[in-house]
Amino acid sequence: MDITPLQPSDYRAIVFFTGAGMSAESGIPTYRGKGGIWTKYRWEEVACEKAFRRDPEKVLTFHRERRLGVAACKPNVGHQVIAALEQQHPQVSVVTQNIDGLHNRAGSGRVIELHGSLWRLRCPSDGRRLEIEPGSDYPDRCECGAWLRPDIVWFGDSLDQNVITAAMESLAGCDLFVSVGTSGTVWPAAGFPQVARQNGAYSLEINPEANEISPLYDQAYRAPATQVLPRLFPSVTGPVRA
Ligand code: OAD
Repeated sequence: MDITPLQPSDYRAIVFFTGAGMSAESGIPTYRGKGGIWTKYRWEEVACEKAFRRDPEKVLTFHRERRLGVAACKPNVGHQVIAALEQQHPQVSVVTQNIDGLHNRAGSGRVIELHGSLWRLRCPSDGRRLEIEPGSDYPDRCECGAWLRPDIVWFGDSLDQNVITAAMESLAGCDLFVSVGTSGTVWPAAGFPQVARQNGAYSLEINPEANEISPLYDQAYRAPATQVLPRLFPSVTGPVRA
């Protein structure tokens, strides 16, 4: 595949908009499509507030297993390219739908996690939040006695307004928008490529498969993230941090 390298200094601000396909080559399954999480589990049973109220232990077990799976994976070269670019360019940000924390583990500093994080718990009763480290133990219940829920956006939950505002600010200022590995099916995130386009950013899609929002991008590379990102930004090399 022909990939035209980009010169980061040609752009004032760069936003990487990432989804599950970004981490697929790290070994973390995507949600939809072959082997997808939602082909094996019903989100109605493990990823919504109603399920948590009905059977908290089942929901917490699902998320405990996800954490174990993610903790065993490492950021891939795509995450590393993005993190290294931030060291070379003053305005790089990541707006991610992923809850796996791999952008942070790769060394990215400006990461907006639209759907929260597997690595944070929240008490629905007193609002307390608890950060957790991959590999370390953590409680199922808050000090107040309530079950602690993962601080992630489940089906039916609203996104945090501060997070949306931060994402919109990034989009408003960017002139290069690089989408990596999202099916563009979950809103409001699915609307972000349109926002970037309206703001005049040059936009790229990196995804082996086209989807409904693919026509919104100026250019598409139909190949996996780890094949495209290093060739798109050949000037960037960074130390491996996992
Ligand atoms: P999906 O599972 O819906 O889509 C993953 C996308 O990644 C698909 O378009 C694949 O073609 C693409 N893909 C697969 N492997 C790839 C690779 N190696 N390189 C590049 N692309 C690849 O995941 P999302 O779009 O992220 O919500 O899903 C959005 C939200 O739906 C998720 O954040 C999650 C889910 O329910 C929450 O967790 C709250």
